[in-house]
Amino acid sequence: MGHGSGWYRSLARPLLFALPPEASHRLVSRLLALPLPWERLGGVRHDPALEVDLAGLALANPIGLAAGFDKTGRHLDALGRLGFGYVVAGTFTRRPRRGNPKPRIVRYRDRGSLANAMGLPNPGAEAAAITLERVRRTVPRLASIADQDLSDVLETHAILEPHVDAIELNASCPNVSWGRDRDNEAHLAGLLRELGARRTKPLFVKLPPFRSQVEREVVLAFARIALEGEADALTCSNSLPVAESRLAARSGGLSGRELLEGTVGNVAAVREATEGVLPINACGGVAGVAGALACIEAGATTLQLYTGLVYGGPGIVGELANGLSAAARSRHGGLPGMMGAGPAPGEGGLLAG
Ligand SMILES: Cc1cc2nc3c(=O)[nH]c(=O)nc-3n(C[C@H](O)[C@H](O)[C@H](O)COP(=O)(O)O)c2cc1C
Repeated sequence: MGHGSGWYRSLARPLLFALPPEASHRLVSRLLALPLPWERLGGVRHDPALEVDLAGLALANPIGLAAGFDKTGRHLDALGRLGFGYVVAGTFTRRPRRGNPKPRIVRYRDRGSLANAMGLPNPGAEAAAITLERVRRTVPRLASIADQDLSDVLETHAILEPHVDAIELNASCPNVSWGRDRDNEAHLAGLLRELGARRTKPLFVKLPPFRSQVEREVVLAFARIALEGEADALTCSNSLPVAESRLAARSGGLSGRELLEGTVGNVAAVREATEGVLPINACGGVAGVAGALACIEAGATTLQLYTGLVYGGPGIVGELANGLSAAARSRHGGLPGMMGAGPAPGEGGLLAG
């Protein structure tokens, strides 16, 4: 682990982890509202070799903040200054939501993981638009959106798209009951058809993870529908459904280190199913340079993280970006997909070199 986060792991994290998870998240949110030297705490050194084009968005580096960390959009300025290449706010719904009853986050400290059953608490699309209007843009930003009814998704999209650089459609939250009784493939296809006629900016689709063969077929079918529906990128993946009796909901989504291996496999399979046409944002368990490189080698254009930030602190952004820089320098031709790079993913390069 890098030195940049030593103070976090030895000092700040024990204090934060002495609090219940949501209380420590509130504390962190309050800190993010202060004028602290976020650039220094993130510790990212700019490197042109890491610049990457994500569906037309010019990113300074491929490290993104995953949806769910900033559920209001209020802290995108500070989070961008940490050095993320892009940040995702939300998930936002048309109307405000309280989310599920508490407790709804559990830590697995020894496993670098979490289970959550938040259930998409958020201020709703109109309040989010007001916040986004006010918050300074430091890096490219996305809004994650979701809803039960198609008309609500379309309205939320229309309300939020003017305030962001792209929209990520969350088609994969394990903590809402939507979709259990409908044809989700037809629903996604319909949504993309309707959004296709209206949207003016890139649209990403966030897929669920898969473990079993049956789940694999479902997720790959989703990926193909996203491709046919002209999505601009895919995010693989959301958290993994698990049973957890300490959550009030008794089940939730697993996130963190334990997902990494599955994420690498999911990225490779989705890439193959979509014939490498769409950029993929790897998400799930990225918390170190080796994992980030494995995702890139599997075909990811960018990496998103949430739980890695909880366990690694702000310095993880620099740890990842600077580690990728070092890897790009040491490999002839840079990293696949990045500006300094030669070969595209799958054509050798990084790990092959
Ligand atoms: C507390 C919590 C809340 C989350 N909320 C959302 C959300 O609102 N929308 C979404 O698409 N993903 C949400 N996620 C999932 C993350 O964006 C990410 O897909 C998942 O945690 C795997 O990445 P990680 O291992 O880096 O955390 C949430 C995750 C956590 C831990």
